Amino acid sequence: MSGLICIAGGKGSPGATTFALALALSDLEPVTLVDADPDGGDLAAWLGISATPGLVSLAAAARHSFAGGEFVRHVQHVQTGIKLLGSPSSPEQVEASLTSLGRPFAQILAAGPAIADIGRWRSGSPATELVGAAHAIVLVVHPTVAGVAHARYQYEDLTTRCTNVVVACRGDRPYNAAEVAEAIGCAAAFSIPTDRVGASMLTGSTRERWLRRTPLVRSAHDLRHSISPAEEVAS
Ligand SMILES: Nc1ncnc2c1ncn2[C@@H]1O[C@H](COP(=O)(O)OP(=O)(O)O)[C@@H](O)[C@H]1O
Ligand SMILES: [Mg+2]
Repeated sequence: MSGLICIAGGKGSPGATTFALALALSDLEPVTLVDADPDGGDLAAWLGISATPGLVSLAAAARHSFAGGEFVRHVQHVQTGIKLLGSPSSPEQVEASLTSLGRPFAQILAAGPAIADIGRWRSGSPATELVGAAHAIVLVVHPTVAGVAHARYQYEDLTTRCTNVVVACRGDRPYNAAEVAEAIGCAAAFSIPTDRVGASMLTGSTRERWLRRTPLVRSAHDLRHSISPAEEVAS
């Protein structure tokens, strides 16, 4: 994998953060996982580590000068081989940090390999710079009437910012991936299996080797390999 993949959520907690973590675990190659959810971070708590150092300490350090070398000092190496730039649960702190880090930060992540959980997407989100620098965006959708209605607007907006937007449905009830794709107006939608056991293992602090064999992480692996490399989609 190369470049930056942003994972965006839709209405009703469809599982964006869980899928971002599954995606990070889906390859043995180390990846930088960034918690850029403007509603507040979850990943540091899920992985059982402190959110400091992380996004907020990076933003504070970068206020004076932002060199790429600074970035690595705020990333924590997690047991699984994931390098996490975590965030606290305070929305105000995450929003302010993303706004002040701005484009130079997005450009560093664009070199990848990096995965950013950008939370629920809306136009004007503090994660806008990350979306602009991403080589692919995965929009995770609950396949319900409300979830799909909401995702239509998000998809329309995201496709004006990135040429590679993938819709991923969590589960297939009441609508399956083909029905969701048709309603949203995209050629196809990826299907994330409902995997309560895998999801709860990911959101707890247990990190087991066989986690990589759960349906959820296997599906993340499939999606990761279906996204074309950054250099092929760069415009
Ligand atoms: N593929 C899945 N199958 C079953 N449950 C899931 C799946 N993905 C996420 N969940 C569960 O759904 C809830 C919300 O997940 P989360 O990743 O926090 O959503 P979001 O980031 O979109 O708000 C959590 O309880 C999580 O365990
Ligand atoms: Mg989330």
